[in-house]
Amino acid sequence: MADRKAQLTIEGLDKVIEFPVYSGSAGPDVIDIRSLTAEGLFTYDPGFMATSSCQSAITYIDGANGVLLHRGYPIGQLAEHSNFVELCYLLLNGELPSQEEYREFEANIRNHTMVHEQLANFYKGFRRDAHPMSILCGVVGGLAAFYHDHMNITREEDRRISAIRLIAKMPTLAAMSYKYNIGQPFNYPRNDLNYAENFLYMMFSNPCEEYKINPVFAKAIDRIFMLHADHEQNASTSTVRLAGSTGANPFACISAGIAALWGPAHGGANEAVLNMLDEIGDESEENIQRYIDRAKNKDDPFRLMGFGHRVYRSFDPRAKVMKETCDEVLGELGMADDPQLKIAKRLEEIALEDDYFIERQLYPNVDFYSGIILKAIGIPTNMFTVIFAVSRTIGWISHWNEMISGEYKIGRPRQLYVGYNQRDYPAK
Ligand code: CMC
Repeated sequence: MADRKAQLTIEGLDKVIEFPVYSGSAGPDVIDIRSLTAEGLFTYDPGFMATSSCQSAITYIDGANGVLLHRGYPIGQLAEHSNFVELCYLLLNGELPSQEEYREFEANIRNHTMVHEQLANFYKGFRRDAHPMSILCGVVGGLAAFYHDHMNITREEDRRISAIRLIAKMPTLAAMSYKYNIGQPFNYPRNDLNYAENFLYMMFSNPCEEYKINPVFAKAIDRIFMLHADHEQNASTSTVRLAGSTGANPFACISAGIAALWGPAHGGANEAVLNMLDEIGDESEENIQRYIDRAKNKDDPFRLMGFGHRVYRSFDPRAKVMKETCDEVLGELGMADDPQLKIAKRLEEIALEDDYFIERQLYPNVDFYSGIILKAIGIPTNMFTVIFAVSRTIGWISHWNEMISGEYKIGRPRQLYVGYNQRDYPAK
C-alpha cells in the first residue's frame, strides 16, 4: 500500500525519521506517523484538522468539489432513485440489495419496530418538559438492558441483529419522546406502513381521530432521513467509534453518538437555524442585513446557523437536494410565501455575494433548509435534532460494525501537557 515515504527532520535530532505514505481509492494521501512515539514524539492536532483516525470504505466526501458518495454512489442519485431503507442496506452491507435481499431486510426492520413495554417506564422518569434529545440519549443507552440476548460484539450475527434493532426502533423511541413531551399516549408502530409513514403515524396519530398520512410529507421525511444518513468521520460518528473501540455495546455507543450530535455546531444546527429565523423575524432588507453584519462581527457571538462546514468548501450537495425538497413541500402546502422561507432565501442570496462568506468559503449546509421542511410538516423545533439522530443511526452503526469487524485498537489520543510540573504538597 505504501510506495512513497515522508521524511521528517527535527532540529537537534541528527537523524531523518521516515514514514510510509498511503494512498486510498480517492482523497488525499495519508502519512502513517504511528512510529513517531518510538522517537518520544507525538503530533498535535486539536480538532483533528489533519488527522485520519481510521480506514473506511463507507462514505467519501470531496469537500472542494461538493461530492458526497455512499459506497461510491452520489447522494443526489440516491436521493432521486433510492429510499432510506435501501440506503441503510447499502451503508451496512456495502452493495445495493437485490429485490429479494431488499424485501427480507425491509421485513426484518418492520418486524423489530416495537420496543419492550417496560421501556415506557423510562420515559415516565423524565420531566414532561425534558428536551427529547436528553430522553433519547437515556433510553437508547438503556436498550442494552433489554436486548442483551445478542450483544456479543465479536459475533457477526449479533452485530447484525443489534443494527436491525437500532434502525427499526429509533423512530419508535423518537416519536415516544415527542408524545411524552406533549402528554399524549404513545402509539405502537404499524407494520403495514413504510419506514417514513410509520414515523409520521407514531408522531401525529392519536386515539381520538384518524390520521391520514400525506404522501408528500412521507417522501420529504424519507429524503431528510437519507440526506442525514452518513457523513464519514464527523464528530458523532467519531464518538461512536471511540466508544466502540473500548468494546462497549452498540446501544451505549449509539447513545454516546446522540450526545455528541446534540451540540449546535453539529446536529443541533437545524434547531438553531429555526430559532435564528424566528429571532430575525422581520423580512425587511435592513433587518436581514443587520444579522448578516452581526455574523461577520468577531465581537458578536452570533453566527449564521446552517452556514459553513469543516469539510465542504464549495457547496454541500445535501443542501441542494434539501432546498428542492423544501420548495416541493412548501409548494404542495401552498406555503411558498412562508416568511421564514423568504428570510432564509434572502440570507442565502446576500451571504453568497458577501466577501466575508466568499473568502471563508461558507455555504448553506444540509441544515439550512431542513428545519423549514420539518416545521411545515408540523414537527416541533425541539424534535429536529432527534430526527437527525434517527437518520444518522445507520451511519453510526455501519461505522461501528466496520470497525469491530476489522482490526482496531482502543482510541487513546495524547496531549501537550501545559500544567504544573511535580511539586510538593505544602506542609501543614
Ligand atoms: N457564520 C459566520 N462565520 C462563520 C460561520 C458562520 N456560520 N462559520 C464559520 N465562520 C467563520 C469563522 O468565524 C472563521 O472566521 P475567521 O477565519 O475570520 O476566524 C471561519 O469562518 C472558519 O470557521 P471555523 O469555525 O474555523 O470553521 P470550522 O470548520 O471549525 O467550523 C462549523 C465548521 C460547521 C462548526 C461552523 O461553520 C459553524 O459553526 N457553522 C454554524 C453551525 C452549523 O450550521 N453547523 C452544522 C454543520 S452541517 C451538519 C452537521 O454536519 O452536523
